[in-house]
Amino acid sequence: MGKIEKYETIITELGALIKDVDNNTGVLANTAALIHERMGFFWTGFYLVKDKTLQLGPFQGPVACFQIGYGKGVCGAAWQQEKTLVVKDVEEFPGHIACSSLSKSEIVVPVFKHDRIIGVLDIDSKEIGTFDEVDAHYLERAMKILSDSLR
Ligand code: SME
Repeated sequence: MGKIEKYETIITELGALIKDVDNNTGVLANTAALIHERMGFFWTGFYLVKDKTLQLGPFQGPVACFQIGYGKGVCGAAWQQEKTLVVKDVEEFPGHIACSSLSKSEIVVPVFKHDRIIGVLDIDSKEIGTFDEVDAHYLERAMKILSDSLR
């Protein structure tokens, strides 16, 4: 199955999986699990806005940093710029936060609720250049579905 087919499947499954579930932590956890399992990424998870920082939320993969400041790293930059950031090579991103030395490329997608950023989806890959505009497109669609399910 190609990348687009995998993402189409995720979009269909996600809508059914988290519809009408009154459990934000569970919804975030299962969203991370679905994307992570289907796509075979290295690390897939959420950082959530709390007390003017990003705090580690539900994720799949190796242990990660607990807290990221506003504008710091790829996650903090995506929060500050309020847009998806695709990083082909983390070594070329000034201020990248290396939770794992195995991470080589990364995509961060903001999660909006009522036009405000409530967190970001962060995905890491062990290969350089994993993510492109196709990932950005489908992951933004997935985050819209997720947002609609969050209470
Ligand atoms: N690399 C991220 C930090 C989070 S970990 O990758 C899970 C960043 O630069 O924001």
